[in-house]
Amino acid sequence: MFKLPEKVTIIEVGPRDGLQNEKLFVPTEKKKQFIAALREAGLREMELTSFVSPKWVPQMADAAEIVFDSLDERTRNIVLAPNRKGVDRVYSTNCKAVAVFVGVSNSFNLKNINKTTADCMAELKPIIKELKEKNYFVRACISTAFYCPYEGKIADTDTLKLCREFVSAGVDELSVADTIGMAAPTESYSLFSKLKAEFCHTLLTAHFHDTRKLGLANILAALQAGIDRFDTSAGGLGGCPFAPGASGNVATEDVVYMLERMGIETGVDLQKLVGAIEIVSPHLSREIETGYFRLHAKTVRE
Ligand code: HMG
Ligand code: MG
Repeated sequence: MFKLPEKVTIIEVGPRDGLQNEKLFVPTEKKKQFIAALREAGLREMELTSFVSPKWVPQMADAAEIVFDSLDERTRNIVLAPNRKGVDRVYSTNCKAVAVFVGVSNSFNLKNINKTTADCMAELKPIIKELKEKNYFVRACISTAFYCPYEGKIADTDTLKLCREFVSAGVDELSVADTIGMAAPTESYSLFSKLKAEFCHTLLTAHFHDTRKLGLANILAALQAGIDRFDTSAGGLGGCPFAPGASGNVATEDVVYMLERMGIETGVDLQKLVGAIEIVSPHLSREIETGYFRLHAKTVRE
């Protein structure tokens, strides 16, 4: 067996990626309870919400209210912001960690942010510099790092080039995403090995969507490449509204179960995590069907 880390950091993206694509508006109070319960379950880094246009993503319209009530000094509270307006909205809160997001694919960026990749980067570079001068933690989410729903296969060289631009701009973390869940474990191993070799001073995180049920296999492949940070979503919720064919992120409970069974510490209490999912599950338009949840939830509908 390959060398494994003793512990892994899980970045919970359920309140953001998990909920952003939900058709029914999840009550703000339930979102806050979900965040509090996820924290109680031991999740120490979390994407809470997004400061994006409420016309584009209505589910995130309550971002300011979520942040106002859900910051916790002991944990890393991350919010997404795509542009100057988003970052200015973050400045009016006490949140100190921002995730910017850009895809490698130009076509995807035009659909998701209404700008070309070059225009996104031209806007974001001075913003990242400013955020770092103000001592913010900055995470860059790299979408379509493997495949794009519009352009198909993305070359590793293109993904590495965009990552290089973000690292030169000063980000603390790269979260590299298989947006539509198409990467094979061999592709994950290959790209993450290259990222690990080049960016040894930047936090490297893998973000897998589980569309083709390859999420756990991809996590194993990324672990083998030396990655020890994973974005996951409680209940396997999620998906980008502008990436057709994408389904939820790999489920936090299934990842934690797998890692703990492999002797890798995550710090997450699985029973409390199930309780957190039960807070939002009655408000979703679909059933949660992840393995661990179905076996342990009290509220699964038959
Ligand atoms: P636009 O229409 O080009 O922007 O949208 P605009 O500058 O022309 O403004 C249009 C309206 O939006 C104006 O309002 C602005 O004020 C407002 P109006 O005057 O018409 O009333 N606006 C904003 N409002 C709130 N917050 C803002 C903001 N910016 C403008 N930040 C924009 C451009 C980027 C806003 C839009 O395309 C947008 O909101 N996109 C969000 C897309 C999104 O949230 N996608 C999901 C997150 S990314 C993801 O899930 C992938 C990830 O998980 C990794 C992976 O899996 O790949 C991270
Ligand atoms: Mg995502």
